[in-house]
Amino acid sequence: MNYKADIGVFGGSGFYSFLENVEEIEMETPYGKPSDKIAIATYGDKKIAFLPRHGKNHQFPPHMIPYRANLYAMKKLGVKKILAPTSSGSLQPNIKPGDFVICDQFVDRTTGRKDTFYDGPVTKHISSAHPYCPELRKIAIEVGKDLGITTHEKGTVVVIQGPRFSTVAESRWFNKMGWDVINMTQYPEAYLARELGICYANISLITDYDAGLEGRDDIAPVTEDAVLKVFAENNEKVKNMLFEVIGRIDLENDKFTCCNVDLTGIDL
Ligand code: ADE
Repeated sequence: MNYKADIGVFGGSGFYSFLENVEEIEMETPYGKPSDKIAIATYGDKKIAFLPRHGKNHQFPPHMIPYRANLYAMKKLGVKKILAPTSSGSLQPNIKPGDFVICDQFVDRTTGRKDTFYDGPVTKHISSAHPYCPELRKIAIEVGKDLGITTHEKGTVVVIQGPRFSTVAESRWFNKMGWDVINMTQYPEAYLARELGICYANISLITDYDAGLEGRDDIAPVTEDAVLKVFAENNEKVKNMLFEVIGRIDLENDKFTCCNVDLTGIDL
């Protein structure tokens, strides 16, 4: 296979295409097929690979996404950095629909997902203390500010199993724990990137207040339609942000300090 890419982008709910003049490639991995064909295109001096994580027809709900195949395919293409926009709910009143949060931590509340490339016989325990790339996050934060978008510089995302949204009690609990945003796909996606030594950043676009906010009877619990509506309203904003971040990534002088990992045991 002679297709190559420098930067990967995973599209989320409501975000199924990104680039123009793409070449679509079908890939197969030891973990099965990725969610869909991967669209490769050039942007400036960089090659970009775009993959909608749910598939183009949203055929993979969050708990059925072939996360390992998606990450493995990006690695095989030579991708060094992944930008991962997601729609996310807010758990805190100061984080509002339309804002961006550049998450720095996750809490995993998923169950039963295939979440490692180390299933044996090689056993490895990789640190996930700091799961997101600080350098890529820094660029995203700067771009958000330069574009005049309210951008929260850090945040903890609690990742739920889905496909259901949270109960009021769960949502209140997450809020009391001090967690900031909620979605269904950041785990194991962010961690698998780490196992492959790919520098990864999440850009959470806030679409809702989850099951509501304490003392705010006017805020209705989130629905799927509401998420898609707010994402559609902000689609251009997300794309502009991504293009600007991609433009500012300096691959030549990059030291990849966040994610130098030993890949022994992964069949690449
Ligand atoms: N994605 C967008 N909003 C969400 C929410 N409130 N819970 C889980 N995933 C989401």
